[in-house]
Amino acid sequence: MYTSYLANTTKFPFGIDVDRADGTFIFDKNGTKYFDLIAGIAVSNLGHQHPYIIKQIKKQIDKHLHVMVFGEYSQDVQNKLAIELAGLMPDSLDCLYVVNSGTEANEAALKLAKRATKRTRIVSFKGAYHGSTHGSLSISGNEEKKGSFRPLLPDVFHLPFNDVDALDFIDKNVAGVILEPIQGDAGVRIPSREFMTKLRKICDDNCILLIMDEIQTGMGRTGKLFAFQHFDVVPDILTIGKAFGGGMPIGGLVTSQKLMSLFNNNPTLGHITTFGGHPACCAGALAYLEVLKQENIIENVETKGKLFEELIAHRSIVEIRRKGLFFAIEMKSKEIVQKVVEGCKDRGVLSFWFLSCPESFRIAPPLNISNSEIKESCKIINKVMDEVC
Ligand SMILES: Cc1ncc(COP(=O)(O)O)c(C=O)c1O
Repeated sequence: MYTSYLANTTKFPFGIDVDRADGTFIFDKNGTKYFDLIAGIAVSNLGHQHPYIIKQIKKQIDKHLHVMVFGEYSQDVQNKLAIELAGLMPDSLDCLYVVNSGTEANEAALKLAKRATKRTRIVSFKGAYHGSTHGSLSISGNEEKKGSFRPLLPDVFHLPFNDVDALDFIDKNVAGVILEPIQGDAGVRIPSREFMTKLRKICDDNCILLIMDEIQTGMGRTGKLFAFQHFDVVPDILTIGKAFGGGMPIGGLVTSQKLMSLFNNNPTLGHITTFGGHPACCAGALAYLEVLKQENIIENVETKGKLFEELIAHRSIVEIRRKGLFFAIEMKSKEIVQKVVEGCKDRGVLSFWFLSCPESFRIAPPLNISNSEIKESCKIINKVMDEVC
């Protein structure tokens, strides 16, 4: 039930009246059960209410909630999370700064690139989505979403994504290059190895910081812990969020100790957050990483993705773009996408739109979805496509 006292930033909300959620399913107030194939936009990667995550969050709540702004006190759960994450990372990414959201992680990354290089120029890519605050909006690609909020950050340039020759624009004036290693909101766009390798080399040759935004692609979504691992190219700064918290709101900036230390001088407290690294959120994030390991989740992502792709191969689909369990399904028009997504919802399957790719719809289910749930939900999607296409 919507109330006019609660803000709504769309006139066309998806409109599920949520009662509870469990595993791959969301239940509404009428008792209708929905397959959740979007996982809150790539957040609930272990489904809803994973018992271990819930247990660890409750344990932390019983110990303490917020005690101090980030960085001033030592808190066990933050330390354990940083150690656990560093153990999964290349050696050069050994330091975590915990923030509140994906967009804040990107804001901090832009600041760190400027601080480290003493340059101002940022290069990003057309089609990118990096968040909704001023800095993140400035480096995002969707013009329609930016126009009303100008002036935005100066000295930002957008190059065409996955265009190897366009990278020659990048020179010594650039502080940082930021990209999603697989673009999400642009409709799951996977760049070539050649593009990623050349980008890394140009950044190395010109002492530019390469920032990868893995807020959506990270934490196992594409069949590796991070999408950059598909390309054998390591960023200087990695930003994370969404699934990182196991369902809790948290973002992170991951880089080397050396780079991160620049935030402690000139100026001191170079990035400040009150709630960043909230203990309950860190407990969710730590538990998420532990479950990934214990349950061999990532090892099965690509196989499950393939099964989905095989079962969903309907004649009306123009193209499926996929890595792991990260899907864009392109149809002949945005009107058909509308009908398929609405039709699926009416039949108990939740998929969703992309902001910058209206001819495709989005599927990003929990990574631990079972094969029988994949089969059952694909049957429904195919039936809807039979009806509306
Ligand atoms: C690639 C990417 N970067 C940044 C963000 C912003 O994250 P948040 O909504 O947590 O601020 C998103 C959110 O969808 C995203 O997909």
